[in-house]
This record gives sequence, C-alpha cells and structure tokens, in this order.
Amino acid sequence: MAFSASYSLALLSFIFFSFASWGTEARGFPISSLISKELFDTIFLHKDNNACPAKNFYTYDSFIKASRCFPRFGSTGSLTTRKREIAAFLGQISHETTGGWPTAPDGPYAWGLCFKEEVNPQSVYCDSSNTEWPCYPGKSYNGRGPIQLSWNFNYGPAGKALGFDGLKNPEIVSNNSLIAFKTALWFWMTEQNPKPSCHNVMVGRYVPTEADIAANRTSGYGLVTNIINGLECGKPNDGRVNDRIGYFQRYAKLFNVDTGPNLDCENQKSY
Ligand SMILES: *[C@@H]1O[C@H](CO)[C@@H](O)[C@H](O)[C@H]1NC(C)=O
Ligand SMILES: *[C@@H]1O[C@H](CO)[C@@H](O)[C@H](O)[C@H]1NC(C)=O
Repeated sequence: MAFSASYSLALLSFIFFSFASWGTEARGFPISSLISKELFDTIFLHKDNNACPAKNFYTYDSFIKASRCFPRFGSTGSLTTRKREIAAFLGQISHETTGGWPTAPDGPYAWGLCFKEEVNPQSVYCDSSNTEWPCYPGKSYNGRGPIQLSWNFNYGPAGKALGFDGLKNPEIVSNNSLIAFKTALWFWMTEQNPKPSCHNVMVGRYVPTEADIAANRTSGYGLVTNIINGLECGKPNDGRVNDRIGYFQRYAKLFNVDTGPNLDCENQKSY
C-alpha cells in the first residue's frame, strides 16, 4: 500500500503515541483506511435498491462518523483482526436487515442493510419487569437500525450512552442514520452481562470461564451470534445462523481475511 509522505508521518507519530499510552493497541486508527466507500458499496450492493425500504438511509458517511464514537472498533489488534472485526460486524448487521433470498440478484448475501425497521412486529417489546428502563406509554421498542435494536432494556441504555431519549423517542433510531449506526456499534462494543461484548470476542480479549468452556462458548463469530441471538444456537443447521455465516464469509473474502475459528454456534449452549 502506498502511503503519501505526510500520511506516513502522521501514521508514525500516531503509532508512537499509541505505544506510549496504550501499548501495542492501535487505538483510534480510522477505519476508513480499511473500508473505503468503494468497498462499502460493494459489500452493500443493493442497500439502495428500489425494493429496499431503507433505500438511501444507510450511508457510508454515517457509518464512518458513527465509528468515531467508538475508537476501539476496527482498530484493536493486528491488521487481520481489525479487518475481521469489521467484516463480522457488517455480517451480523446484514443478517439483521437482510432483503436477500436464495435466488436474489448477486446472491442472498448482497442484500444487507435493506430494512431500517422490523416488519410487522409481534409486540411492543416491553419488558415491564425492568424498572430501571420503564417503557413509555404508547411507544414500541421493536427492531430498528442496523442491529435491529429492540426491547426497552436496550433502547434505554443505548440512548443514555449516545445522548438521546431511547425510551420516549425510540423512533429516532430509524429516522436518523448516524444514530442508527451508533446504536449498532454501541451494542457491538458493550458488554451484555453475563455475555461479553461482541468486540472483545472478535479481537481476542474474551477469556472464557470454565463454565463457558463446558458450554463450548469459545471465541469466534459463532459466539457473537450467541451474544446477539442465542435462541438460534445449540441446534444443527439453523437457517438464521447460516445466513449470518454466509454474509460474514462473503465480506471476509472482500476484506481478504479468513473467518477465524468457531464460525458456527450449533454446539454452543446459549446464555
Ligand atoms: C420516524 O420513524 C417512525 C417509524 O419508526 C415514523 O413513523 C415517523 O414518521 C418518523 N418520523 C420522522 C419525523 O421522520
Ligand atoms: C460441545 O461440543 C461437542 C462437539 O464438539 C458436543 O459433543 C457437546 O455436546 C457440546 N457441549 C454442549 C454443552 O453443548
């Protein structure tokens, strides 16, 4: 890769700063250097298709801007690890928002980010036993945005962390593309006690307990699926799990990295 001289200099001082304050972690390395607009558009080939309800909503600029709020995302570990983390994140959000089908143009995995809001939600996703994040009357906490954020207990803390009222104004997640991407990255970067963060799993910072090892919950993309929706895990050949994997495999190839171990969660106990 050919860096310009000034860029190299900036990079060098950046690396020096990183070593000085954060050890070997290249914290805050901009992900735009790993995912150009061109690559983003190749990954999300049909996101602005007329058939997609989210047409023109999910922009490259919003994604890059949102990532700046989470400087560790895509900037932790080796170049391979960093690319693989981004590919894994994009793979999971693609399944969550997929408009693909088996015989779709360019294949089922060229249709990520097609939806911004859950179609026909079966409930308002209010866990009324949660008193820390009480539901606001008349509001629906159905899936919205790239990760399809749902439930009051996720909207509340996501909003608090990102500076909006998730309980009174959950709709903003499907009306504001920057906030939409931020909620997905917030979910990815945040520990979901007792589950680790997806980020820590993908960058090798997750240390399984003995119980985790007994449950086959060891690092890899399968564990990320288990964190996002464990109901899909612990059974063979789940179509949803396979869709998540299919997206990740296509993207890993585009990033020119391998997918790493434990792609599947069919042998994992859910949390
Ligand atoms: C915001 O999104 C909701 C759906 O979640 C929609 O009904 C509403 O019209 C949108 N509001 C604005 C101002 O775009
Ligand atoms: C862990 O995986 C193995 C196969 O690799 C399987 O036989 C075993 O039942 C799994 N354990 C649990 C708790 O699911």
